Amino acid sequence: MTHAFYIKTFGCQMNERDSEIIAQSLAQHGYIETPDMNSAHLVILNTCSIRAKAEQKVMSLLGQLRRNKQKNPTMQICVAGCVAQQEGQSLVERMPHVDLVIGTQHIYNIADHLKAAKNDGKVITELSDAYEIPQFIPGSGAADADDMSTVGSTTFSRFVTIMQGCNNFCTYCVVPYTRGREVSRKYKDIIEEVKVLVDSGVKEITLLGQNVNSYGMTNTVTDDGTPCSFAQLLTAVASIEGVQRLRFTTSNPKDLSDELMQCFNVLPNLCPQFHLPVQSGSNRVLKRMNRKYTIEKYYELVKILRSYRPDIVLTTDIIVGFPGETEEDFQKTMELLENVRFGGSFSFKYSDRPGTASRHLDDKVAESEKTRRLMAFQKRQNEISFESNSECIGKTYKVMVEGKDGPSYRCRADTNHVVHCTADHELSPGDLVQAVVVHAGNHSLKGEVV
Ligand code: 5AD
Ligand code: SF4
Repeated sequence: MTHAFYIKTFGCQMNERDSEIIAQSLAQHGYIETPDMNSAHLVILNTCSIRAKAEQKVMSLLGQLRRNKQKNPTMQICVAGCVAQQEGQSLVERMPHVDLVIGTQHIYNIADHLKAAKNDGKVITELSDAYEIPQFIPGSGAADADDMSTVGSTTFSRFVTIMQGCNNFCTYCVVPYTRGREVSRKYKDIIEEVKVLVDSGVKEITLLGQNVNSYGMTNTVTDDGTPCSFAQLLTAVASIEGVQRLRFTTSNPKDLSDELMQCFNVLPNLCPQFHLPVQSGSNRVLKRMNRKYTIEKYYELVKILRSYRPDIVLTTDIIVGFPGETEEDFQKTMELLENVRFGGSFSFKYSDRPGTASRHLDDKVAESEKTRRLMAFQKRQNEISFESNSECIGKTYKVMVEGKDGPSYRCRADTNHVVHCTADHELSPGDLVQAVVVHAGNHSLKGEVV
């Protein structure tokens, strides 16, 4: 009997990639993906717990699924990802209609676990320090993500995991507890996966990890034990025939090497965009966040990056209302906006997370104040994004076609700008063409294919 499964992905690109692996693994076991949650025999929620809001979305969907299961008692409900990892057994206790709770390191054998869960409820969430990322070459299944996705996963643009976990312990962050310690994937497995992908027609590769800069630092990645830095890996991937565009995410400024920044100067297929989360403009707050860099150091990195690649578009993440953040601290974050002029940013109100150090700080900022700061930040960022987008008007960009929205093509520039383009000839997803920008908005551009 075939089983229809539905998968809903929350959170970051790491989760998007995990959902692809889950989908591929289930397909190999005879399951068929359906876009309709209500008709599925198996529903998988691949969850995010980075902020309380992300977790609340999961809980409310689980409430809805309880009713589905009352109507259809043979359906299976599986919670995967970071909420599964974090909540473990207590999730099944609170949500007894959940059949399987599977942590972030166990998705590769999800089909076996589902089979076992048919007999009795299962919770598989232990995190291992000796974890190795299995080799897994994907098919064409695409996941849909909701929050923060930038480049989507398609048949011509793919994510490749290079490392998992995090050893940094920023005081606000749940990731070391949901993804475990840093593990870098074997160099030759990454190269092999990229080669298989480009042979199957993929043109754009995004290397993924929670902290790609420390690739190769915590475990040996080569057979003969020679060290390999992220910059070396990036250079090797860039030289693979068929990799037309290369991106990576995410980087912590604290260990951004000159060798890596130089890559933007020397690798022609490395796209001129860089997501470099800063979190705050105040040294006092950065210290309390355990970020291990100063704002002066961040400014220095921005200067160097722009000297190596003047057209680079920088984006960042900001948390407002971290415990103890004063108005003066917040104003330093506002100054940062003026000084760096990011092309865009993701900004969040600080949220207490289980197990994190900042949860225990007692000088919490009031919710209304966090909201006010977030609004002020986003208002100014929107103005700056609009101004910087307006500077694109009249310039020509190499864009990749991602799909069609009505009469125009939805394309992505190498700078990661979304450009809605008109063309006087038919284009297909994955086509790389030149487009001149004719109009700018806050979040996207309009262009004409030339
Ligand atoms: N509260 C608010 N934002 C957070 N982030 C991570 N943890 C928290 C938290 N506890 C934000 C950071 C990070 C992004 C992925 O999410 O800005 O870079
Ligand atoms: Fe991704 Fe972090 Fe959310 Fe986990 S907690 S899904 S790693 S964003």
